[in-house]
Amino acid sequence: FTIDWDASASDKGGWDSFMDKEIHEDPSAVRNTLIGRFDEDGEIKLDEVHIDAEAFRQIDKIIVVACGTASYAGMVAKYAIEHWVRIPVEIELAHEFRYRDPILTPRTLVVAISQSGETMDTLMALRHAREQGSRVLAICNTQGSTIPRESDAVLYTHAGPEIAVASTKAFVAQIVAAYLLGLYLAQVKCTLYRDEIHQILDQLKQMPEKIQWVLDHEAESINDAASKMINAKSFLFLGRHVGYPVAMEGALKLKEIAYTFTEGFAAGELKHGPIALVEEGEPVVVIVPSSRGRNVLHNKVISAIEEVKARGAFTIAVAEVGDPDAEKYADIVFWRPECPTLLSPLVDVVPLQLLALDMAELKGYDVDKPRNLAKSVTVE
Ligand code: G6P
Repeated sequence: FTIDWDASASDKGGWDSFMDKEIHEDPSAVRNTLIGRFDEDGEIKLDEVHIDAEAFRQIDKIIVVACGTASYAGMVAKYAIEHWVRIPVEIELAHEFRYRDPILTPRTLVVAISQSGETMDTLMALRHAREQGSRVLAICNTQGSTIPRESDAVLYTHAGPEIAVASTKAFVAQIVAAYLLGLYLAQVKCTLYRDEIHQILDQLKQMPEKIQWVLDHEAESINDAASKMINAKSFLFLGRHVGYPVAMEGALKLKEIAYTFTEGFAAGELKHGPIALVEEGEPVVVIVPSSRGRNVLHNKVISAIEEVKARGAFTIAVAEVGDPDAEKYADIVFWRPECPTLLSPLVDVVPLQLLALDMAELKGYDVDKPRNLAKSVTVE
């Protein structure tokens, strides 16, 4: 009787890969990033962020600088922060930022999002922002790394070490940290009532369970979709509103580890070009917004599914449990529990992470160390 064992298998805690383990840590990444950041009355406490409340009150614009997955977390946060705080939030790829003479003032808060804290492009962008007199707050997963050290303040994501090159649990933790920042700004600027903040925090606290539900219930249909689409030459991902950055992130995951040519785009853009790509059997993954509350975007996204289906696409929907239209029009549905629209990226991304993992595994690739990529890119 022998047992196959090596040191790296023990680090993986019984999972086949770090990526698999880390996707299954999405719930704890969310939970741990929330811990200690607010009290029972729903007051956000960001004491660790050493920028005083008065300085936060003065902030009139946020610019998020980041690369890759972190930039999509920033795109998600834009929807929530603009809605809650009523100040403009721009997202800029860090490598584009300092070469275009961005408008930076002492009232601009630059938020640098980085899992590793060592991405050179992001570091150079934050240095530029500070030289221009703006404050920089880092959202980072790695204690003591360069980006937080060089920032005015840091809000750590507590996702735990991320080893797989493709970022997964850090993404959900980055969204949560950026949301806490948004809620804190809403609190000091009085743009939301205390009760409203309390309610959003309650909903955030329920998210780990909802993510766990997806992990527990949807693995089979995700695997089924991966095996059906294993020979697909390309994939399209589409979403609207917060589903748009989720589509971009889903497309990135599949590129990174399954080496599949993908494009993620806003569903409304379909008719302006991408629909020309759709031919018989083309897989199209669609993030469907909730139909509750007479959400006008729901019908628009469903009609995007009908459009691509009419042209022969194989459609995969990520939709809220019980959505009759998703059931009716999509070939495969990955279900996710009911949750508020702004929080839905935290659950919608999970099946897309698993889909990329399954596709890469079925193709026999090394999911933790994809070709040509590095976990942190320390050159410009
Ligand atoms: C690299 C990684 C990506 C990551 C990006 C930003 O390209 O391969 O997974 O999203 O860098 O990394 P950061 O550590 O700054 O979040």
